[in-house]
Amino acid sequence: MRIGVIGCGAIGSVLCRFIDKDLEGCSLVSVCDTDTDKVEKLVESLETNPEILDIDGVIDRSDIIVEAVSPSIVGELMQKCIDKKKHLMVMSVGGVIQNLDLLDKLTARLFIPSGAICGIDGVKAANIEEIDSVVITSTKSPKSLKGAPYLAEKGIDVEAIMEKETIFEGNALEAIKGFPKNVNVSAVLSLAGIGAENTRVRVVVDPSIKRNMHEIEVEGSFGKLYTRTENVLSPLNPKTSHMAVLGACATLRRLVGFVKIGN
Ligand SMILES: NC(=O)c1ccc[n+]([C@@H]2O[C@H](COP(=O)([O-])OP(=O)(O)OC[C@H]3O[C@@H](n4cnc5c(N)ncnc54)[C@H](O)[C@@H]3O)[C@@H](O)[C@H]2O)c1
Repeated sequence: MRIGVIGCGAIGSVLCRFIDKDLEGCSLVSVCDTDTDKVEKLVESLETNPEILDIDGVIDRSDIIVEAVSPSIVGELMQKCIDKKKHLMVMSVGGVIQNLDLLDKLTARLFIPSGAICGIDGVKAANIEEIDSVVITSTKSPKSLKGAPYLAEKGIDVEAIMEKETIFEGNALEAIKGFPKNVNVSAVLSLAGIGAENTRVRVVVDPSIKRNMHEIEVEGSFGKLYTRTENVLSPLNPKTSHMAVLGACATLRRLVGFVKIGN
């Protein structure tokens, strides 16, 4: 089983090391990153010797492609994987809810890790019957929200916020547009539950917190569920929770087994 990783930042670099050292039955054959220094250093540190290629090269050389870049490349990547019948694992799940029309055209598997939230199994189960409401509240430090397009659009200086404050409320599509690098979990939740337009998202800034927190509340015919995940941040990217990286490793482990059996 050949795996290629596109985007070797906080998530991609850890996934490369995980595949390199800990994942049996597959090999890391190719990697891609626009930061050439970063990707060369990463490859030097690995035991295997993946080729450094462009996106098309990674797709051609691999059976499973892992995306860990940004929602903006996901539509194009999904289309290329559809054309070449390749399995794809997406981290920038916001890009999937922005390209829902492509889901009907899939020619291989699309894998979506649960990311930095817990409880997705319960939401999928609840979705067998009726779900009345899904709300996610993401509470983050100012540092982890810096650079989000919504802040520039609304003229919000997050670093000037001194007390806990809700700065955004809307649906998951609006949330991904405003915070493409911060609320991919809301896209994961949308796909597991009642869709992006019906999934309510709240973004809260709290200057006193050290851990990014995601709370999910779902109500339906099953009853009510509430989960809260307090996430240690990735040392490589304060926008990314370590749990998202671990979730991606766990999904990779499962999907390698699945694809082996499937083939
Ligand atoms: N699903 C989730 O729960 C979840 C959680 C955290 C992060 N994410 C998302 O996962 C993605 C990756 O996160 P990260 O923390 O690793 O980000 P990162 O910024 O640390 O890494 C992204 C990497 O992609 C590279 N890159 C940029 N443009 C590229 C291109 N066109 N082609 C190839 N490489 C390119 C960058 O140089 C960088 O090394 C982001 O979209 C992030 O929002 C999802």
